[in-house]
Amino acid sequence: MNATLAMLFSLFITLLALSSSSLAAPFEVFVPPVTYPHAKTVWRAGEHHNVTWDVTDAPKQISNSLGYIFLRHAGKIDLAHPLAEKFDILKGHQRVKVPHVAPGHDYQIVLLGDSGNWSPKFTIRA
Ligand SMILES: *[C@@H]1O[C@H](CO)[C@@H](O)[C@H](O)[C@H]1NC(C)=O
Repeated sequence: MNATLAMLFSLFITLLALSSSSLAAPFEVFVPPVTYPHAKTVWRAGEHHNVTWDVTDAPKQISNSLGYIFLRHAGKIDLAHPLAEKFDILKGHQRVKVPHVAPGHDYQIVLLGDSGNWSPKFTIRA
């Protein structure tokens, strides 16, 4: 390889390295596991409860730190009635009011932010 070719080659490698580092997303996807409610949880309509999730593995920067909590029941997420919205997903907990819904054993909390996560199925009583 002559000197000019070697220079072009190293320039090419440098550009490649630069472009791949700028292509690499600066944000990581954060999927926080819901720790409460869990499978043995029983809530009653009208009560306030503190939904919690594990933030110990949270990356320093995430693409969306605004969280939403919805209720899922019978295979449907009730997107029209969030239990909480626009809170900081990195704080790891959020107080919600249990809505007046049909009693059932297959309710789930859906935590949305950077990514979505569902709690185990739990019970809501009248
Ligand atoms: C909710 O839970 C978190 C984490 O366990 C705790 O730090 C916080 O004080 C609780 N908040 C309420 C309102 O109970």
